[in-house]
Amino acid sequence: MISAERIAADFSALTQQIVSARGVAVNSYKRSCLERRIAARMRARGAESYASYARVLREDPAEYDALIDALTINVTHLFRDTEVWEGVAERVLPDLWAGNHATINTWVAGCASGEEAYTVAALWHRFLEARGEVGMTSRIRITATDLDPDALALAAVGEFPRESLRDTPADVRARYFTPAAPHVAAAELRRMITFARGDLLATAQPPGSVHLITCRNVLIYFDKPSQDAVFRRFREALAPGGYLVIGKAEAVLGESRLLFDALDHQIRLFRRPM
Ligand SMILES: C[S@@+](CC[C@H](N)C(=O)[O-])C[C@H]1O[C@@H](n2cnc3c(N)ncnc32)[C@H](O)[C@@H]1O
Repeated sequence: MISAERIAADFSALTQQIVSARGVAVNSYKRSCLERRIAARMRARGAESYASYARVLREDPAEYDALIDALTINVTHLFRDTEVWEGVAERVLPDLWAGNHATINTWVAGCASGEEAYTVAALWHRFLEARGEVGMTSRIRITATDLDPDALALAAVGEFPRESLRDTPADVRARYFTPAAPHVAAAELRRMITFARGDLLATAQPPGSVHLITCRNVLIYFDKPSQDAVFRRFREALAPGGYLVIGKAEAVLGESRLLFDALDHQIRLFRRPM
């Protein structure tokens, strides 16, 4: 029988091996989440211990991709939590537009297959169209990042199954998506978004350059020290008065609360103080 100390040491060696081989800080994810994903991959590969799974990874490096894929859960849809986006449309967009910035930068961090980025693009486009200022869409820049290259490849295509649009308001659906599935996003929306690979645990944005960050249902997978590190990075990336929206199951806790003003708990809306 293998001792508990030995199991802990093998687990630690395994995660270090993954970090070194792929540069993804898997040890920043919640321990329970990481253990579950590794256990699932071990079952799939018939590995009975962490040490033997480490050997599988060394002998078949494609297994690293399968593991990271299992760790990056891509579940998403357009206008997920509709009330959040209503709040963003009512409170955030008009305020940012009134700020007369030469460009308004939005960062969708952890965009998966793009649904959240297209949601934000549709909100901005609809806002400008309603004001008769649609010619100004070039002032809106949306950068959408994710760790998972496969999800990003889908995002760039911008075609969505019927299910993905289930919460999309009827006017947005009719205006920006083709009627039959797969629903193709309008070119006006695609033009507003740049998709790029980015590891939230490693990649910083230029300080003070972002006016709105949406990072929803991503932080929930990280342990508390890594959540705090990401919040510090968000605070640096945001311009004074810039907004942050996180997921409804997520919270800004402990020392990170000092970084932002909490504006609306219902929609998890925060702001970098002026
Ligand atoms: C559940 S999806 C959330 C998608 C969307 N934001 C939403 O709320 O519907 C979580 C996404 O976080 C991404 N992710 C996980 N770890 C990441 C990291 N370290 N850096 C960037 N993205 C990461 C995953 O690849 C996945 O696409």
